[in-house]
Amino acid sequence: MDSTFSNTEVFSITTPLYYVNDLPHIGSAYTTMAADAIARFYRLQGRPVLMITGTDEHGQKIQRTAEAAGRSPQDHCDQVAAGFDRLWKQLNIHYDRFSRTTAPRHEAIVREFFQRVWDNGDIYLGQQQGWYCVSCEEFKEERDLLDDHYCPIHTNRQAEWRDESNYFFRLSKYQPALEQLYRDRPDFIQPTSRRNEVLSFVEQGLQDFSVSRVNLDWGFPVPTDPGHTLYVWFDALLGYVTALLDPEDEPTLDNALKRWWPINIHLIGKDILRFHAVYWPAMQMSAGVPVSGQVFGHGFLTKDGQKMGKSLGNTLDPVDLVTRYGADAVRYYFLRAIEFGKDGDFSETRFVDVLNADLAKNMGNLLNRTLKMAKKYCDGAVPGIDVGAIADDHPLKSKGSDLAEQVSQAYSRLSFSHVCELVLSLTRASNKLIDDQAPWALFKAGKQADVDELIYSVLESTRLAAYLLSPIIPDISNAVYQQLGYTLDFNQPEAGAIAPFPLHTVWGCLPPEQPLGEPQPIFQQLAVPELSTPS
Ligand code: MSP
Repeated sequence: MDSTFSNTEVFSITTPLYYVNDLPHIGSAYTTMAADAIARFYRLQGRPVLMITGTDEHGQKIQRTAEAAGRSPQDHCDQVAAGFDRLWKQLNIHYDRFSRTTAPRHEAIVREFFQRVWDNGDIYLGQQQGWYCVSCEEFKEERDLLDDHYCPIHTNRQAEWRDESNYFFRLSKYQPALEQLYRDRPDFIQPTSRRNEVLSFVEQGLQDFSVSRVNLDWGFPVPTDPGHTLYVWFDALLGYVTALLDPEDEPTLDNALKRWWPINIHLIGKDILRFHAVYWPAMQMSAGVPVSGQVFGHGFLTKDGQKMGKSLGNTLDPVDLVTRYGADAVRYYFLRAIEFGKDGDFSETRFVDVLNADLAKNMGNLLNRTLKMAKKYCDGAVPGIDVGAIADDHPLKSKGSDLAEQVSQAYSRLSFSHVCELVLSLTRASNKLIDDQAPWALFKAGKQADVDELIYSVLESTRLAAYLLSPIIPDISNAVYQQLGYTLDFNQPEAGAIAPFPLHTVWGCLPPEQPLGEPQPIFQQLAVPELSTPS
């Protein structure tokens, strides 16, 4: 068995800590679903996993939003953070830590980290002049802005001119060390297109960036000069570190870093790549802590081919989507229909088509019709055959035997769409085998042994497919397993309710004679949406 199947090394993964200026949008849901799928995949392998998500609650953007809503910033943050948590429950996200940057113990971690960077001589007072986009919470080069200083990301927002005394972090000092990092660890930034983006940015020469603001109250005071407030990004990135503390730990860096550091993967969207792939490793080097394992920058989602935005009036509300279609449908579409790392589109028609084709027809019908045949021809139980006697070149056995290994590799590369394709090729082959061999005819001709082998091999392939897709569609996988006569629960991996990964990944492990459950649709066919007429 491949060594990846018995790895007990700890694994930690983060989503960005989302701004609480507004309710969660589909972009935040996208990253979180992907992180959850990866976390579930490694849990299945028996690895100790820590999945971190959370909220980024300081800074001018949040302060202004709270003011506009007539709430105190903290009340505002509490309300919006609770909304994120509700959505994660609806989407069946099993996070281990929810890191909020307004948590009191976060301040202790930030102070200690800042002190290390300060003691290393990497912070100095200077004058910051430039264009600031409050929505990005980032200074922008004039050449990167649109006409009239509108932000290219928040196209309805103008950047604001700032000329103020700020503390700076000596990013420029870390240019050689960063270049060395990118050379030594070519996988540090993924996918390659993102890596190239960072390399060319760094090549242009790194400039120090300011890590404090004046005229802003909503944030932590700079430990060495409380007249300044710490820049929201400096504080936010450290939210990943605070998240590592166990609830009973004293909030110290040593405690935080003792088990799960360095983080294996920071999953982010491409717009916040520089912070994670340039600023963050430099900050880590300055504080003398090992640099994180990998930064993976996924693409941007569009809707009906268009950039999404409130001003454009075409946002896609994840709460509405999951309420209408359920968690597995939403998880499946985004991970299956979009190549992770590339930009991708959502249209309701494509959504319904993909789900109907893959889940209702390909997998759902396969299980349903095979269970019905097992009832008719095999007494409602898994056929009691000698599994070892199935020939190695049996079309499903040969396909199924190394499937788990291929799928594992695809999960490790975060190629979710490839995972789905690999698995679907087995269910497709199963459907074809039934059509080709016509078990009803075999039964009529009295060829019971052939019927048994066919039904067994199809049920077993459906089981393997459900197992391998369980990180993406855990509820559907549960339904498949129940109908195959199991009682385990993919939503309870840590309770030891799931047989260990190596056992269930072997094609042929479905126990002969296991009583089968009642056939029920695992995914209801969806109605094709009526095309909305453009207003
Ligand atoms: N608070 C910072 C992150 C700090 S991490 C220490 C932040 N928050 S955010 O809420 O604005 O962004 C969250 C994520 O949503 C980012 O990864 C961003 O790339 C992603 N997306 C925002 N719009 C998106 C799409 N249209 N499509 C896909 N992801 C998008 O940035």
